[in-house]
Amino acid sequence: MKILITGANGQLGTDLQKILTAQKYEFVATDSAELNILDEVRVREFVKGNLFTHIINCAAYNNVDKAESEVELCRMLNTEAPKLLAKISREIGAVCVTYSSDFVFDGKKKSPYFEEDVANPLSAYGHSKLEGERAVLSVNKKCFVIRTSWVFGMGNNNFNKQVIGWSQGKSELSIVEDQVSSPTYAYDLADFTLKLLNSKEYGLYHFSNSGECSKREQAEYVLKKMGWQGEVKGAKTSDFSLPAKRAHYSKLDSSKFESVVGEKIPTWQNGIDRFLEEYKKSN
Ligand SMILES: NC(=O)c1ccc[n+]([C@@H]2O[C@H](COP(=O)([O-])OP(=O)(O)OC[C@H]3O[C@@H](n4cnc5c(N)ncnc54)[C@H](OP(=O)(O)O)[C@@H]3O)[C@@H](O)[C@H]2O)c1
Repeated sequence: MKILITGANGQLGTDLQKILTAQKYEFVATDSAELNILDEVRVREFVKGNLFTHIINCAAYNNVDKAESEVELCRMLNTEAPKLLAKISREIGAVCVTYSSDFVFDGKKKSPYFEEDVANPLSAYGHSKLEGERAVLSVNKKCFVIRTSWVFGMGNNNFNKQVIGWSQGKSELSIVEDQVSSPTYAYDLADFTLKLLNSKEYGLYHFSNSGECSKREQAEYVLKKMGWQGEVKGAKTSDFSLPAKRAHYSKLDSSKFESVVGEKIPTWQNGIDRFLEEYKKSN
């Protein structure tokens, strides 16, 4: 097995590298400066001569609000680039893994979303992800497309780090309580991705830490663990005028993933506990 990671310096890429190193996998980790996945010539040149058995695409356009005014760049990164990587994987006989998002759903459902549920994105980012999934799955049969939600890890900025920052010097915070899903620890996503690779049961999967919560509940949990004494008040999505529409409910049911891998996914609270241990050590 020889793995190529793209976008390796993001949250998921960083945790994937930790696990691959610890488990002594052979891999090449690339960031956007070394391997820009929008540059087809460069990607082909890079892959040539390397006997990659797997390409794990951790690169993405993730700024959901900016995407509303950068629709084409977002589409290039989330639709065209994964499609190219899936195509190149097929040409070299490699397995391709790429990630999508709970943003493909409109949030009208009141119970966890399954892989077969009808997607109906509310934003440019959501559309780019859905089109990316479809493109990847249509060009290479040996692909895993994994939808995830509310990812947090040490490799980049995220909601956990933001609320810790916002709480400094404050006794009160207002956080939305009408967005419910599940926070997902990048380390668990990386770990379970590697377990899924052994299955060879290619296709579309959902992965989020188990349980569900609102953004407000997530913030309360993080800040309590950090020893903050203030109060987190509930706010509504409509209180903030953000360019991209958000679903009110987008919990992903991960039972297909669990049954293929044969292991239960830890709770989001357990994921946050482990994340905060890392966070405290680095601060
Ligand atoms: N974060 C979330 O809450 C969330 C939620 C649902 C789904 N997901 C999906 O989960 C996956 C992993 O997300 P993440 O949170 O780990 O992402 P992340 O931390 O934002 O990392 C994305 C990485 O992509 C790289 N990148 C951007 N443009 C590139 C290019 N042209 N060529 C190569 N690399 C490029 C970035 O590098 P530079 O910084 O150098 O540009 C960055 O390191 C993504 O597919 C994401 O869409 C994330």
